[in-house]
Amino acid sequence: MERQWWQESVVYQIYPRSFMDSNGDGIGDLQGMTSKLDYLKELGVDVIWLSPVYDSPNDDNGYDIRDYRAILPEFGKMEDWEVFLAEAHARGIKLIMDLVVNHSSDEHAWFVESSSSRDNPKRDYYIWKPGKDGKEPNNWVSVFGGSAWKRDERTDEYFLHLFSQKQPDLNWSNPELRREVYDMMTWWLDKGIDGFRMDVINFISKDEAYPDAPGGADARYQWGGQFFMDGPRIHEFLQEMNREVLAKYDCMTVGEMPGVQPDEAALYTAPERGEVNMVFQFEHMDLDSGNGKWDVRPWHLKALKEVTYKWQRALMGRGWNSLYLNNHDQPRVVSRFGNDGEFRVASAKMLATFLHMQQGTPYIYQGEEIGMTNVRFPSIDDYRDIETLNYYREAMEGGADESVVLRSIHAKGRDNARTPFQWDAGLQAGFTTGEPWIAVNPNYPDVNAAAALADQDSIFHYYRRLIALRKKHDIIVYGDFDMLDWDHPEVMAYVRTLEGRRLLVALNFYGGEPEWSPPADAVGCEAELLIGNYAEAPETEGAPEAATGAETAADTGTERRLRPLEPVIRLRPYEDRVYLL
Ligand code: NOJ
Repeated sequence: MERQWWQESVVYQIYPRSFMDSNGDGIGDLQGMTSKLDYLKELGVDVIWLSPVYDSPNDDNGYDIRDYRAILPEFGKMEDWEVFLAEAHARGIKLIMDLVVNHSSDEHAWFVESSSSRDNPKRDYYIWKPGKDGKEPNNWVSVFGGSAWKRDERTDEYFLHLFSQKQPDLNWSNPELRREVYDMMTWWLDKGIDGFRMDVINFISKDEAYPDAPGGADARYQWGGQFFMDGPRIHEFLQEMNREVLAKYDCMTVGEMPGVQPDEAALYTAPERGEVNMVFQFEHMDLDSGNGKWDVRPWHLKALKEVTYKWQRALMGRGWNSLYLNNHDQPRVVSRFGNDGEFRVASAKMLATFLHMQQGTPYIYQGEEIGMTNVRFPSIDDYRDIETLNYYREAMEGGADESVVLRSIHAKGRDNARTPFQWDAGLQAGFTTGEPWIAVNPNYPDVNAAAALADQDSIFHYYRRLIALRKKHDIIVYGDFDMLDWDHPEVMAYVRTLEGRRLLVALNFYGGEPEWSPPADAVGCEAELLIGNYAEAPETEGAPEAATGAETAADTGTERRLRPLEPVIRLRPYEDRVYLL
C-alpha cells in the first residue's frame, strides 16, 4: 500500500459544546476552541475532527442539522469558523468536519417541503411509506427507542427516523438528494477543510422492501439493523461520492459504521476501491454489553485480545484501521477498561499505549489526554442526552428500579463524555464564566489540564510522547501486528514487525503484579525501552523545549536505555512497556 499522511496522523476530536466557552453563556464555542489551539499543538496532534457546529435545533446536540452551510449561533459565526480553520492550519493542524447525511433535522428546509404534501418535488428526499393495517410500515426500532417510524398527520404517511423523531432519514435512492449532498461536501472542501468524519454512513442504503425484522434472540436483529446496516447499495453510493467529490481533493475520510465486520471494512477501506480511508467499528465498544448497551456486563481481557487481533489482522495490507477508545458517545475509557480510582494515571497511560501502538490512525477524544473519568450524577435531572433521557423514561415506564437504571446510565450514558472539559481548578473548571449547559465533573480540582501540563509525569505528557514516538518510528505506524500470550489472564502483549525490527508491547490490564515473559527468541536481545508508564523520567525530561513538541527525551535517550531483555519481567499495577528490538 502506498503510504498516506492520514496513516501517520493522530486525530483529536472536539465536541464543541463541551470544549471551551469564550462568552460566558455556558456553551462551548468556536472562539473558545481557537483559544485552545496552542494546547493541541503542544499535544502534537495532526488533525482535528470537529463534531457538528452546523445550524441545528439541538435535539441530538447538533447531529440533527437544519442548515448544512450555516454555523449554529451558539457556537459563533461563519467568520469565527473561518478563523478557527485558518489558525489550525497556521499551526500545521488539519480539520475534518462531521458529515451527518444519513438524516437531517426535521427543521431542515428539505423536510419542511417534503412533509408539506405528497406531491412536493422534495417528497422523495426522505423515506415516506403508507401505514400497514393502520400501524407503522414495519417493526423497525429507533436507536433512541420506540418505533423508527412517525406518522405525519398532514399527508397521512409515515417517515423513517432511525434516530430521534426530529432526525428523519434522507432517501439516498434519490439521485437529486445525492447531488445536493455532494455539492454541499464540495462547498466545505472548497472552504479548505481536510476531510470528513461520516456519521453512521453505513446506514444510508436501506433494503427497499422494508421487511419486518424477524426478532429472535440476537438483539442486533430485533430492531431491523440487518436491513439498513451495510445495505444493498452502500458501496455504490460511497464509490459515487468518492468519484464525484473526495477523489478531487487530498483529504481524509473516516466512516462511522455500527455493526460493521472486518471483511466488509476491508471492502470499505481498500484504497483501490475508492470508498473511505478508514471506518469506526464498534466491536471493542460492545464488550461490556449484554442485550443492548444498557445491559452492562463485565468485559473480559481475552475478548479484548480477540477483537483487537481480529481487526488488526483483517485490515493489514488490505485497508486501514481507525483506533479509538473514546468519543462523544462512549463512556470514559479509564472508568471502563482502566481504574479511575487509585490507578487512574497509570491505567490511563496503559490504555493509551494499548491503542497508540497498534496499526492504524489513533483518535483522541477531548479530555482523554488528561484522564477525565465518568461522572455519576445523582439524579436524572442532571442529564441532558436524548438517548439517556429516552432510556430512563422507557425503563421507568416499564417498571424498572431507578437505582438500577441510574447504574446503567453511570456506566454507559453518553453524558459521561460530554461534561465540560476540565481546564483548571478554578470555577467551573475554567470551562465557562457562566453556568455550564451540563454540570462539571466534581473531580476537576484534581483532574485538569493546568495540573497535567505542569507535571512532566502526567497523562498529557505521556500522550505527547506517544505521539512523538509515532512520528519517529515507522514501525509504530506501519508494522505488522501479532498477538502474544493469548492465555495470560492479566497481561495483553503484542508484537509489531517491520523490516527486521520488532516492537514488543506489554500491558498489565489489572492492579496485580503479574510476571510476563517476552518471546523466547527476544530474550537477551538488546532492547530499547521506548516508553513505559513506570519508566524513570529520562534525564532531559522537563526541559522547556519538550513543551514545544520538539523531540522528547524518550526519543533521544536511545543508548542510555539499551539493555538485554530479561526472560521474566514483573509488571507493576497497570504497567506498560514498549521495547524496540
Ligand atoms: C452517531 C453520532 O456519533 C451520535 O452522537 C448521534 O446521536 C448519531 N450518530 C445520530 O446522528
